[in-house]
Amino acid sequence: MLYSLLRPLLFQMEPERAHHFTLNMIRRLHTLGLSRLIQPNINTTPTTIMGIEFPNRVGLAAGLDKNGEYIDALAALGFGFIEIGTITPRPQAGNPQPRMFRLPQAQAIINRMGFNNHGVEQLVENVKKSHYKGILGINIGKNADTPMEKATEDYLICLRKVYPYASYITANISSPNTKNLRQLQDSTELGGLLSALKEEQKKLAEQHRKYVPIVLKIAPDLNSEQIKAIAELLLHYTFDGVIATNTTVSRDAVQGLKHGDEAGGLSGAPVREASTAVIMQLAEHLKGEVPIIGAGGILSGEHAQQKIAAGASLVQLYSGLIYRGPALVKESIKALNALGTSN
Ligand SMILES: Cc1cc2nc3c(=O)[nH]c(=O)nc-3n(C[C@H](O)[C@H](O)[C@H](O)COP(=O)(O)O)c2cc1C
Repeated sequence: MLYSLLRPLLFQMEPERAHHFTLNMIRRLHTLGLSRLIQPNINTTPTTIMGIEFPNRVGLAAGLDKNGEYIDALAALGFGFIEIGTITPRPQAGNPQPRMFRLPQAQAIINRMGFNNHGVEQLVENVKKSHYKGILGINIGKNADTPMEKATEDYLICLRKVYPYASYITANISSPNTKNLRQLQDSTELGGLLSALKEEQKKLAEQHRKYVPIVLKIAPDLNSEQIKAIAELLLHYTFDGVIATNTTVSRDAVQGLKHGDEAGGLSGAPVREASTAVIMQLAEHLKGEVPIIGAGGILSGEHAQQKIAAGASLVQLYSGLIYRGPALVKESIKALNALGTSN
């Protein structure tokens, strides 16, 4: 309700400005103790996935709070889990602006942010300062200027630094905005990365006396053979989970629209079907052994249900929040409640 009044004003602003404006407003409301105005009040049944008890199955996707600066305020919107990042070892500016575009006719966003972030050390400081006690995912990546042959080292640096503070950690190898990053999805490269992450996780689990699951985030632009090969590696390395999916490089759905030919990753409604198709194929190969977190084009409760029906155990939202506002969180939680806990 509140958001439908605000949206026309926000959509007048340059998208990245509107992004910061909205996050600061949510934080101010929270600091003033007014977040209950937007906070959903719904009973949910907790679900245990990857050994973690999630209060509900609707999470915030990575990229909205890259540095973990708004965790408490975002948590007040009712999410069952929050994923911050993508963070890289060293701070980096990302691509030149403008680098985020709205395509309202398609209920879509194109972004080529390029992992703009304040670096892993700052993120850890921000997490330490937050009061959030819920489920926190921390999404890690590589610096743009780290050569591809040293990519694994960047993931390991971030893994070690965030390990004590995360409920789970996401290795993001699917952003289209860091040159050659998606190469890591090729099975020849991926085996090495997954094995290094699992080996380090074992050491860290002993050192910190806690096991933090690691999940892999993949793209929607993979063919059936690639999906099968990734699933086999996830099973082989007993990976803890997989997020399907990131944004797409396809432009089929937005041809001819304003901003439709901007470079970057396309998200929102046009990526929905492709993401769901990846979830279905993963589910077929993984047979329930590796949980799937579904993201991509959820703009209604029904879309959230579709991800669960395809085989996801949890869902995440991003672009839908820009088009629908915080009401989408409540709607999605309710829709998944209606499915019961068997799904
Ligand atoms: C502006 C923007 C920035 C994003 N940044 C990241 C990121 O840093 N790391 C990441 O793993 N995904 C990032 N994503 C991808 C989302 O987390 C999500 O996987 C994708 O947008 C599909 O979901 P959606 O259609 O609900 O937005 C970003 C998406 C958008 C729109």
